[in-house]
Amino acid sequence: MNKTSSDRLALYPGSFDPFTYGHLDVVERASKLFDSVEVSVASNTSNEPLLGVEERCSLIQECTSHLPNVSVSTFRGLLVEYAGRRGAVALVRGLRSVSDFDFEFRMAFANRRLSPEMETVFLMTSEAHSLISASIVREIHSWKGDISSFVPDPVRRALDERQA
Ligand code: PNS
Repeated sequence: MNKTSSDRLALYPGSFDPFTYGHLDVVERASKLFDSVEVSVASNTSNEPLLGVEERCSLIQECTSHLPNVSVSTFRGLLVEYAGRRGAVALVRGLRSVSDFDFEFRMAFANRRLSPEMETVFLMTSEAHSLISASIVREIHSWKGDISSFVPDPVRRALDERQA
């Protein structure tokens, strides 16, 4: 069946460890452009995560509960295969600054070679969030610094509880 303009699903994949205000900014922008957006947490990343996949999913759900067309899932294996199974019309990735370009372009070209039909759409985060990265948040948190301006409240509470 052909996709109609009323069922255009975008997949927003990532590690989201943890989910930041920058990620939320991208989800909010994507939710205005597509009929529905699925935020999908990669469960096969090699690094030891700070938060478990299930916890990341439920935190993202809580942080995006004001967006009715946004859902949350988890995936394993190749992103384009999962996106194809879900019937997504595009992959969404956020760009904060030029330093993101190199990695993001290489990933987008690799995904395009694997699945020529799957488009990658880059959305610029707001300037206010352009310096936030999950790794910087993890670093500040590991030294018990204040992360409240980097991550939504549910995420901050979850991280604070782990530290208590
Ligand atoms: O938030 P991140 O860590 O930059 O997200 C990267 C992610 C998870 C989207 C990427 O590593 C990925 O898609 N992993 C799944 C495996 C895959 O499809 N790799 C091919 C793309 S190079």
